[in-house]
Order: sequence, then structure tokens, then C-alpha cells
Amino acid sequence: MAFPQEFIHELKARCNIEDVISQYVQLKRAGSNLTGCCPFHSEKTPSFTVFRNNENFYCFGCGAGGDVITFVMKMENVDYVTAIEHLAARAGLTVPEDGNAMRARVNKERYFEMNKLAARFFYDSLIAPENKDALSYITGRGLTPAIIKRFGIGYADTSWDSLTGYLMSKGFEKEEIKNGFLAGVSQKSGRLFDYFRNRIMFPIFDLSGNVIAFGGRIIGDGKPKYLNSSDTPVFKKSRNLYALNHAKNNTDSSLILCEGYMDVVALQQAGFVNAVATLGTALTSEQTRIISRYANTVYLCYDSDEAGQRASKRAIDMLGDVGVKVKVVTVEGAKDPDEYIKKYGKASFEKLLKGSDGHIEYAIKNISSKYNLDIPEQKLAYLDECCQMLSGVYSDIEKEIFVQRISAESGIAAEIIRNEIKKRQIKTHRRAVKDAVRDDINKSIGYGDRINADSAKNLSTVKKEENLLGILMIRPEFINSPSLKELLSEEIFQCEFSKKVWREICRNADALQDGIETFGDAFTADEMGRIVQMTVRRNELKNNSEAVAAELARSLRKEADRKKSDDGSDDSFFKRIEELKKTKK
Ligand code: CTP
Ligand code: MN
Repeated sequence: MAFPQEFIHELKARCNIEDVISQYVQLKRAGSNLTGCCPFHSEKTPSFTVFRNNENFYCFGCGAGGDVITFVMKMENVDYVTAIEHLAARAGLTVPEDGNAMRARVNKERYFEMNKLAARFFYDSLIAPENKDALSYITGRGLTPAIIKRFGIGYADTSWDSLTGYLMSKGFEKEEIKNGFLAGVSQKSGRLFDYFRNRIMFPIFDLSGNVIAFGGRIIGDGKPKYLNSSDTPVFKKSRNLYALNHAKNNTDSSLILCEGYMDVVALQQAGFVNAVATLGTALTSEQTRIISRYANTVYLCYDSDEAGQRASKRAIDMLGDVGVKVKVVTVEGAKDPDEYIKKYGKASFEKLLKGSDGHIEYAIKNISSKYNLDIPEQKLAYLDECCQMLSGVYSDIEKEIFVQRISAESGIAAEIIRNEIKKRQIKTHRRAVKDAVRDDINKSIGYGDRINADSAKNLSTVKKEENLLGILMIRPEFINSPSLKELLSEEIFQCEFSKKVWREICRNADALQDGIETFGDAFTADEMGRIVQMTVRRNELKNNSEAVAAELARSLRKEADRKKSDDGSDDSFFKRIEELKKTKK
């Protein structure tokens, strides 16, 4: 464990879970617990619960759960150590530096350092005389030396080992360079080779200004057009946004969201300092959550091609889910914002932003562009799509504005349109309820279980294992009770995840009396959710839990023994027959 137990205790005593969560979630009392709408998935009725007695939270909707530290990890998208630091700062405590924590830290620092050196190396290459073609490519696309410097844009030359050679000369290990996605290893010779070659390099920064990854655009027309860092120990592409480090201090609570690095740089150069982009993937829900922390409004400024428009529709829904208002900017007469600003200038883009459509407006325009309202069938199709779309709009006022407009455009009475929308809302609601039920059923039979991949194999065993572990976490002293001691051991658990939880329980048996925080950073935030779920299920078991645990353990042991003897050999086959004969007699 990374931190002394006393420190964690003190921290949790000062950072009451209710207070911390209240900063993010509106909590209401429900009996002795508190409930609210879960911040980790979108929901309208609260299934997120804070248990005051053991200071845990659990969402019955999405399965997120844990203690106050897990909560901060998930909410702020940070690792265990950073979550502790965050809470310590809040409580006015100094974080003790012990060996493990230091190691985790040093490790990350090494990657930051390596990436920083690489970024400088690329930048120096870009301005080196021998690479003047690379520089003229990028200045030819309109970037000034000042913006190139500000974004640390660089050039990876055509050599196969210039960067790796440089980093090794600075003391970085093969393994580090490879894990940091700066080099690959040749299968034949085992030697490192630079990943990025003959590319314009865009370093990606985190919010503290560390270089965490790179995107590299090929010069000219080669393939692939972009090469991006995969996830590394310091980079998750689904959790970061390009240029948010610049944009976050400059927003008037709005962000401009684009598709490409070049779009962002061109916009920022023109003074739109709140421009950001995703990192070579479609928008993720983690990114929308981050966005919602910095912006009330997002100007969605995707490419004007069909793919861009399709991606817009998806982004509108996802941003709506986290309560961000969306304005859709259509860059007419250009393929993307970069080209637009070059062609028409800054003032025109400003006008484009001002005149951008709200998301409903945008949807209706899209629908009406497909139909000719003078033809009855097409008018019908138009009304059908509009009603369907409006049935998803929550605010009655907003809906009404558009009902009136559609009514005027189509000549159909507003009342009829209103009724049609209502009908569809009822239908959608029914379907949502049905889907939720089916989801629950699927979850409970182990489909798509990311935490415990073994759970689909034998559901009833998994349930027994989880019940047993839940009891042991609440009453860890049972591990040594006479009725259980002999029955318990690692082999009785079939699932890898259960085995791990069992090992952690053994390791922390004494400290567990104080709650599951003693697991420290042995588990991820999602795994903690599952662990809390195990204890939540068992909380109602008070008196006879020792007997129940013994029963569960006995049954698991029997299953394990049977599995063992059933190893497929002739021997075990005969043994089974013998046993069967015996029981028959
Ligand atoms: N992208 C990618 N891999 C590709 C193509 C695109 O990762 N093969 C990502 C990059 O993050 C890129 C963004 O998608 O910035 C948008 O792609 P595109 O519009 O094709 O590129 P631009 O950024 O507009 O680049 P350029 O203007 O240089 O063509
Ligand atoms: Mn472009």
C-alpha cells in the first residue's frame, strides 16, 4: 500500500464523503442513506446512493462504486495518488512521501521528461536548415513562427533512429521508449526504430502542461495521413482533448470543438483561443464530461463532409447528455475550419459563430433539406421525422417554439403536431423501460462483464463467490473462525477476480475492520465498484452471516474439488464412477 493507514484514516475523517460528493451531485436523504442522479452515467431518476454508515457510494444503475477516494478518481479522471493529493489539499493535510508512492510518481515523471525531450528534439529539427522543406510545408499552410512555437509543433525527420538514438544518449531505456510509443522494436534484429518519420509533429499536453503524446501528420500524401500515440502509461486518448491546456484558461464558458489538429491551431492563431479537438477518435463520453467542466456551450465545428455531419449528430446527443448546450457551426464553402479561416478570414468566422444554429434548429434544417414540402408524401415524411426528433426534446418551451414553426411551414395545425409528439414520447418511454429491464437481465447473466471476465462461464458460482467475499469484507474476523478456517483458501475461488479479492482480504484482514479503503490502490476504480457491490448485497445479513459464509465456502470447495478431479484423465473418470457407485449404495 502506498500510504500509511493512519494517514488515509485522517484524510477520510476530514473529507466526509457526503461533503465531497455534494460538490458534484445534488444529494437527497433517503432513509439513513443519500441518493442523487449518478454523475457517471446519464439518468433522470436517482440510483446513485451514498451509504453513510460505511462511507461508500454505489450506483444501482451503472455499478460505479467505492469510497471517497474512488469517487475522486472517477470524477476527476485521475489516478490513486493524485486523488489522495486532491483530497489532502482540500483537507489541509500534507501527503507523506513513502517509497511506493514515490516510485509511481518518478515513473510518470520519466515519461513526461522523455516526451518533453522528444518534443524539443522535433521542434529543433523543424527549424534546422537541413529540414527547410518541412518548415515551408507548415508555414505554407499559414502558420506563423510564433504559433508553431506556442504549440511546440515539430518535425520527425526521415531517419529510422535519430530520436531513439537521442533519447538513449539521454539515459532512457529501450523499454521506456517503446512503452512511450516513440519507437517500435524490430522483430528480426530486436533493435528500436523511430515510429514517427517524415511527419509534422503535434505534441499533446495535459492540463498541467506535461507532454503526454504526439500526433504526426505525414508531409504530402503518404499513408496513414496521421499517426497518433497509442495509450501509454501517461496517456489515454479518450480522456484528453487537444489544446485544452490553452483553452481552459481562456473560455467564456464556451469551447469550439473541431475534428483536427490543424483546425485548432489555425483557429487559435486567429484568436479563437477556446478551440479544442478530439485526438483522432470520435468524441468519447469521458471527453464530454471533461468538456462540461469547462463549458456551458460548445460550438461544434466539424468538417462539412458527410462524415463530419454524421459525427456532429452523435456529438450533439452526447453533449446534451452532460447538459452542455450545443451550437452547430456549418463551415459553408470550405471543407473544414482551417480552410474556412484561410479563405474567408477571422471576421467571417466570428459571424459564423454568432449565427450558428441551436441543435434543434440544426436538426430541422437537416430534415427539411431532404424533402420538398409541396409533395404530400414528402411533407408527411418531413413531419414524421420532425415529430420524432422533437419527442426527444425535454423542455416544453423549446418544443413549442418549433411546433409553431413546423405548423406554419407545413400548414398542419399545431395541436395535431403536439399530440403526435406526445404519442411518440409515451412510446419511447415504454421502450426505455423495457430496454432497462433487458439490460439488467443481461448484466446479471454476465454478458459484457468487464471487471470479472470469468463471470459468464459459471454464473451461479460467481454469485456464491461474491456473496462469500462480501461477507468476509464486512466481517474479516471470520477468516480465522473455527467454522470457516479450514474451508477457506484461494483454490475454492474459480474466477481470477475473486481470487485477487480473496488475497487482498487476507493481506488486509486486520485493517479491514475499518472498511475497504485498506485496499489502497490494489484495484481500479471500476473494480472498487464491484467490490462495494459485493458488500452492499450483504449489508442486510446481520446475525447468521457466519453460518451463511460457511455454507457458501463448503459449496464452493465441493465445486472446486469436483473440477480438480474432473481433469479429463482416465484416472479421474474411473474415480468419478467409483464415487457414483458409492453414493448409489
Ligand atoms: N486523423 C487520424 N488519422 C487519420 C486521419 C485523421 O488520426 N488517418 C485524425 C487527426 O486527429 C486529424 C483529424 O482526425 O487531425 C481530422 O482529420 P482530417 O480532417 O483528415 O485532417 P486535418 O486535421 O484536417 O489535416 P489536414 O488539414 O492536414 O488535412
Ligand atoms: Mn484540414
